[in-house]
Amino acid sequence: MPTKINATTEPVSVPPNSRLSGKRALVTGGSDGIGLAIAEAFAREGAELYLVGRSTERLARAQKYLEGAEVKIIAVDLSTDAGIDSVVRQIGEFEKPLDIVVNNAAVAYFSPFDSVTIDQFQHSFALNVAAPYFLTQRLLPFLTQPGGSVINISSYFADKMIPNRPSTLYSLSKGAINSLTKSLAYELGKRGIRVNAIAPGTVDTAMRRASIENLPAEAQAELQRFVDRSYPLGRIGQVSDIGGIAVYLASNEASWTSGGIFSINGGLTAG
Ligand SMILES: NC(=O)c1ccc[n+]([C@@H]2O[C@H](COP(=O)([O-])OP(=O)(O)OC[C@H]3O[C@@H](n4cnc5c(N)ncnc54)[C@H](OP(=O)(O)O)[C@@H]3O)[C@@H](O)[C@H]2O)c1
Repeated sequence: MPTKINATTEPVSVPPNSRLSGKRALVTGGSDGIGLAIAEAFAREGAELYLVGRSTERLARAQKYLEGAEVKIIAVDLSTDAGIDSVVRQIGEFEKPLDIVVNNAAVAYFSPFDSVTIDQFQHSFALNVAAPYFLTQRLLPFLTQPGGSVINISSYFADKMIPNRPSTLYSLSKGAINSLTKSLAYELGKRGIRVNAIAPGTVDTAMRRASIENLPAEAQAELQRFVDRSYPLGRIGQVSDIGGIAVYLASNEASWTSGGIFSINGGLTAG
């Protein structure tokens, strides 16, 4: 099942005049983890959703999880040019403008610098950097102008390193996303499109669990000690911690907010 988000299993129901009523949002990596939590937060504020991921089965589960909301699913591999093209073609076929694009799907290789392979490097950059770049570029003709909102999911790893987590490749890709966020905000501002990034701290998702499960016990223990002493709020994040800022950035309340990198991390980067 998708990572559990809220205690409620109630179908999504939306009060009239909610913050995203009438808006359409595309969320990459929307079938699980942070992407699904953002999708749920958007749905509860009245947005229609397009969820993108590789597995049709996982997307269908997410669609069922979001029962009551208007959700379409698009199964493609975004690390390929054909995958990006397929999303753009399908969005074009729906013949409705898009208001929000969330570039969330990513891969995290935590390999030591001297063992990173070219394949890992190319995959990381294809999914974490090229996909947000070219997907946003090719969706521009469908994006509401003025008024569109692009939200890139970055990470604290863009500029903060931690013990036992060799992160050159992941950090490089997230640094690139931060740079893209600012340069694109500058360029698209003239069209009334806002571009922002959310940089979460560690969040309990499948990606996080997959990246620690093969670590030696002592490295896992050291990571836990790092969490205990480094998060002023005393815990890592849950996916539900990320939805609120995403709703704000997607909504008209953020109409003068662009080019920002928003750290949501329990205070991790305060010290
Ligand atoms: N978890 C954390 O601690 C953390 C912290 C900071 C930032 N982030 C960032 O938050 C974002 C989401 O992370 P997460 O932990 O929520 O990940 P996750 O639980 O592993 O979910 C990843 C999502 O992306 C999809 N996906 C993966 N590869 C794809 C591909 N090639 N094409 C299309 N979709 C693909 C997955 O579905 P399929 O597998 O079916 O494709 C899934 O829906 C990432 O940008 C990550 O870097 C995470």
